[in-house]
Amino acid sequence: MVRIAPSILSADFAHLADDIARVEETGGATWLHVDVMDGHFVPNLTIGPPVIKAIKAVTQLPLDVHLMVQEPDALLPDFIDAGSSTLSVHFEACRHLHRTIQTIKDAGVQASVVLNPASPVSWLHDILPELDMVLLMSVNPGFGGQRFIPSTLDKVRTLKREITKRGLSVLIEVDGGVNPSNAAQLCEAGADVLVAGTAIFGQPDYGEAIKALQSQVA
Ligand code: DX5
Ligand code: ZN
Repeated sequence: MVRIAPSILSADFAHLADDIARVEETGGATWLHVDVMDGHFVPNLTIGPPVIKAIKAVTQLPLDVHLMVQEPDALLPDFIDAGSSTLSVHFEACRHLHRTIQTIKDAGVQASVVLNPASPVSWLHDILPELDMVLLMSVNPGFGGQRFIPSTLDKVRTLKREITKRGLSVLIEVDGGVNPSNAAQLCEAGADVLVAGTAIFGQPDYGEAIKALQSQVA
Protein backbone atom coordinates (compact mmCIF):
# COMPACT_ATOMS: atom_id res chain seq x y z
CA MET A 1 0.00 0.00 0.00
CA VAL A 2 1.18 3.53 -0.74
CA ARG A 3 2.75 5.42 2.14
CA ILE A 4 0.88 8.57 3.15
CA ALA A 5 2.69 11.49 4.77
CA PRO A 6 0.23 14.12 6.04
CA SER A 7 1.78 17.60 5.85
CA ILE A 8 1.21 19.55 9.06
CA LEU A 9 1.51 22.80 7.10
CA SER A 10 -2.27 22.60 6.75
CA ALA A 11 -2.87 21.61 10.38
CA ASP A 12 -4.09 24.00 13.08
CA PHE A 13 -0.82 25.44 14.47
CA ALA A 14 -2.62 26.63 17.61
CA HIS A 15 -3.63 23.01 18.34
CA LEU A 16 -0.82 21.15 16.66
CA ALA A 17 -0.53 18.29 19.15
CA ASP A 18 -4.29 17.64 18.92
CA ASP A 19 -4.24 17.62 15.13
CA ILE A 20 -1.23 15.28 15.08
CA ALA A 21 -2.94 12.94 17.55
CA ARG A 22 -6.08 12.91 15.39
CA VAL A 23 -4.13 12.02 12.27
CA GLU A 24 -2.04 9.41 14.10
CA GLU A 25 -5.18 7.76 15.54
CA THR A 26 -6.44 7.02 12.04
CA GLY A 27 -3.66 4.44 11.66
CA GLY A 28 -3.35 5.50 8.01
CA ALA A 29 -0.38 7.86 8.21
CA THR A 30 3.07 6.35 7.63
CA TRP A 31 5.10 9.47 8.35
CA LEU A 32 4.42 13.05 9.39
CA HIS A 33 5.64 15.56 6.78
CA VAL A 34 7.11 18.72 8.31
CA ASP A 35 7.70 21.76 6.09
CA VAL A 36 10.52 24.06 7.14
CA MET A 37 10.63 27.38 5.24
CA ASP A 38 13.29 30.06 5.71
CA GLY A 39 11.83 33.13 3.97
CA HIS A 40 14.78 33.12 1.54
CA PHE A 41 14.71 29.93 -0.48
CA VAL A 42 10.92 30.20 -0.46
CA PRO A 43 8.81 33.31 0.18
CA ASN A 44 7.32 32.00 3.43
CA LEU A 45 8.39 31.22 7.00
CA THR A 46 7.26 28.30 9.11
CA ILE A 47 8.94 26.39 11.91
CA GLY A 48 12.38 25.27 13.04
CA PRO A 49 14.13 22.71 15.26
CA PRO A 50 12.48 23.62 18.61
CA VAL A 51 9.02 22.97 17.21
CA ILE A 52 10.18 19.73 15.56
CA LYS A 53 11.58 18.62 18.92
CA ALA A 54 8.23 19.39 20.56
CA ILE A 55 6.37 17.43 17.85
CA LYS A 56 8.76 14.51 18.28
CA ALA A 57 7.73 14.30 21.94
CA VAL A 58 4.03 13.89 21.14
CA THR A 59 4.03 11.40 18.25
CA GLN A 60 5.33 7.95 17.33
CA LEU A 61 5.18 8.79 13.63
CA PRO A 62 8.57 9.20 11.94
CA LEU A 63 9.22 12.84 11.05
CA ASP A 64 9.76 13.44 7.34
CA VAL A 65 11.36 16.87 7.40
CA HIS A 66 11.35 18.93 4.18
CA LEU A 67 13.92 21.71 4.38
CA MET A 68 13.04 24.63 2.11
CA VAL A 69 16.16 26.38 3.32
CA GLN A 70 19.00 28.05 1.41
CA GLU A 71 22.38 26.42 2.24
CA PRO A 72 21.03 24.19 5.03
CA ASP A 73 24.43 22.79 6.19
CA ALA A 74 24.87 24.97 9.29
CA LEU A 75 21.40 24.04 10.54
CA LEU A 76 21.63 20.28 9.93
CA PRO A 77 22.90 19.35 13.44
CA ASP A 78 19.87 21.05 15.00
CA PHE A 79 17.43 19.25 12.70
CA ILE A 80 19.18 15.95 13.37
CA ASP A 81 19.11 16.48 17.17
CA ALA A 82 15.45 17.48 17.00
CA GLY A 83 14.56 13.94 15.92
CA SER A 84 14.15 14.01 12.14
CA SER A 85 13.83 10.53 10.59
CA THR A 86 14.29 11.79 7.04
CA LEU A 87 15.85 15.06 5.94
CA SER A 88 15.07 16.33 2.46
CA VAL A 89 17.25 19.12 1.05
CA HIS A 90 16.64 20.97 -2.20
CA PHE A 91 19.05 20.41 -5.07
CA GLU A 92 18.58 24.11 -5.87
CA ALA A 93 19.60 25.20 -2.35
CA CYS A 94 22.83 23.26 -1.80
CA ARG A 95 26.25 24.35 -3.07
CA HIS A 96 27.96 21.09 -2.10
CA LEU A 97 25.13 18.61 -2.26
CA HIS A 98 27.27 15.49 -1.86
CA ARG A 99 28.74 16.81 1.38
CA THR A 100 25.29 17.77 2.68
CA ILE A 101 23.93 14.29 1.93
CA GLN A 102 26.96 12.69 3.58
CA THR A 103 26.44 14.75 6.76
CA ILE A 104 22.82 13.59 6.97
CA LYS A 105 23.72 9.93 6.38
CA ASP A 106 26.63 9.99 8.83
CA ALA A 107 24.12 11.02 11.50
CA GLY A 108 22.02 7.92 10.79
CA VAL A 109 19.19 9.94 9.26
CA GLN A 110 17.58 9.03 5.92
CA ALA A 111 18.78 11.36 3.19
CA SER A 112 16.62 12.77 0.42
CA VAL A 113 17.02 15.35 -2.35
CA VAL A 114 14.12 17.52 -3.52
CA LEU A 115 13.63 18.79 -7.07
CA ASN A 116 11.52 21.84 -7.87
CA PRO A 117 9.07 21.52 -10.78
CA ALA A 118 11.54 23.15 -13.23
CA SER A 119 14.51 20.98 -12.22
CA PRO A 120 15.04 17.89 -14.38
CA VAL A 121 15.44 14.40 -12.97
CA SER A 122 18.72 14.09 -14.92
CA TRP A 123 20.37 16.43 -12.37
CA LEU A 124 20.24 13.55 -9.87
CA HIS A 125 22.25 11.15 -12.02
CA ASP A 126 25.45 11.17 -9.96
CA ILE A 127 23.95 11.57 -6.49
CA LEU A 128 21.15 8.98 -6.92
CA PRO A 129 23.03 5.96 -5.47
CA GLU A 130 23.71 7.95 -2.29
CA LEU A 131 20.03 8.65 -1.60
CA ASP A 132 17.30 6.95 0.41
CA MET A 133 14.60 9.00 -1.29
CA VAL A 134 13.90 11.63 -3.94
CA LEU A 135 11.16 14.16 -3.30
CA LEU A 136 9.59 15.54 -6.47
CA MET A 137 7.74 18.81 -5.98
CA SER A 138 4.45 18.87 -7.84
CA VAL A 139 3.89 22.56 -6.98
CA ASN A 140 6.35 25.40 -6.51
CA PRO A 141 7.42 25.15 -2.87
CA GLY A 142 6.32 27.68 -0.28
CA PHE A 143 2.61 27.25 0.23
CA GLY A 144 -0.03 24.61 0.79
CA GLY A 145 -3.22 24.40 -1.21
CA GLN A 146 -1.75 24.92 -4.69
CA ARG A 147 -2.76 23.12 -7.85
CA PHE A 148 -0.92 19.93 -8.88
CA ILE A 149 1.42 20.38 -11.89
CA PRO A 150 0.55 17.46 -14.26
CA SER A 151 4.04 17.22 -15.85
CA THR A 152 5.20 15.77 -12.51
CA LEU A 153 3.77 12.44 -13.67
CA ASP A 154 6.37 12.18 -16.43
CA LYS A 155 9.14 13.04 -13.97
CA VAL A 156 7.98 10.25 -11.66
CA ARG A 157 8.03 7.79 -14.59
CA THR A 158 11.50 8.90 -15.72
CA LEU A 159 12.91 8.66 -12.21
CA LYS A 160 11.28 5.28 -11.55
CA ARG A 161 12.75 3.91 -14.79
CA GLU A 162 16.22 5.13 -13.81
CA ILE A 163 16.01 3.69 -10.28
CA THR A 164 14.85 0.31 -11.63
CA LYS A 165 17.42 0.24 -14.43
CA ARG A 166 20.26 0.81 -11.96
CA GLY A 167 18.89 -1.66 -9.40
CA LEU A 168 18.63 1.00 -6.66
CA SER A 169 16.13 1.07 -3.79
CA VAL A 170 15.45 4.80 -3.68
CA LEU A 171 11.91 5.82 -2.71
CA ILE A 172 9.99 8.42 -4.73
CA GLU A 173 7.90 10.92 -2.76
CA VAL A 174 5.58 13.49 -4.35
CA ASP A 175 4.59 16.73 -2.62
CA GLY A 176 2.06 19.37 -3.61
CA GLY A 177 -1.57 19.32 -4.71
CA VAL A 178 -1.88 15.57 -4.12
CA ASN A 179 -5.53 14.51 -3.78
CA PRO A 180 -7.81 11.54 -4.56
CA SER A 181 -8.05 12.60 -8.22
CA ASN A 182 -4.31 12.22 -8.94
CA ALA A 183 -3.19 9.65 -6.34
CA ALA A 184 -3.81 6.64 -8.57
CA GLN A 185 -1.90 8.10 -11.52
CA LEU A 186 1.01 9.04 -9.28
CA CYS A 187 1.28 5.52 -7.89
CA GLU A 188 0.97 3.94 -11.32
CA ALA A 189 3.80 6.21 -12.45
CA GLY A 190 5.97 4.93 -9.59
CA ALA A 191 5.41 7.12 -6.52
CA ASP A 192 6.00 5.34 -3.20
CA VAL A 193 5.08 8.14 -0.78
CA LEU A 194 2.34 10.76 -1.17
CA VAL A 195 2.51 13.96 0.86
CA ALA A 196 -0.91 15.54 1.44
CA GLY A 197 -1.69 18.71 3.37
CA THR A 198 -5.00 20.20 2.29
CA ALA A 199 -6.36 16.82 1.17
CA ILE A 200 -6.09 15.58 4.78
CA PHE A 201 -5.97 18.47 7.27
CA GLY A 202 -8.42 20.49 5.18
CA GLN A 203 -11.04 17.74 5.53
CA PRO A 204 -13.38 17.24 8.49
CA ASP A 205 -12.50 13.54 8.97
CA TYR A 206 -8.79 12.76 8.62
CA GLY A 207 -9.37 9.00 8.56
CA GLU A 208 -11.83 9.29 5.68
CA ALA A 209 -9.47 11.66 3.87
CA ILE A 210 -6.59 9.17 4.08
CA LYS A 211 -8.88 6.33 2.99
CA ALA A 212 -10.01 8.42 0.02
CA LEU A 213 -6.36 8.68 -1.10
CA GLN A 214 -5.62 4.99 -0.53
CA SER A 215 -8.80 3.70 -2.15
CA GLN A 216 -7.87 5.40 -5.41
CA VAL A 217 -4.56 3.61 -5.37
CA ALA A 218 -5.93 0.19 -4.43
C1 DX5 B 1 4.69 23.11 -0.10
C2 DX5 B 1 4.95 22.04 0.90
C3 DX5 B 1 3.94 20.96 0.94
C4 DX5 B 1 2.54 21.41 1.31
C5 DX5 B 1 1.61 20.59 0.49
O1 DX5 B 1 5.82 23.90 -0.24
O2 DX5 B 1 6.20 21.43 0.65
O3 DX5 B 1 4.35 19.91 1.80
O4 DX5 B 1 2.21 21.24 2.65
O5 DX5 B 1 0.34 21.04 0.73
P1 DX5 B 1 -0.86 20.58 -0.22
O6 DX5 B 1 -1.01 19.11 -0.05
O7 DX5 B 1 -2.00 21.36 0.32
O8 DX5 B 1 -0.48 20.97 -1.61
ZN1 ZN C 1 6.71 19.58 1.79
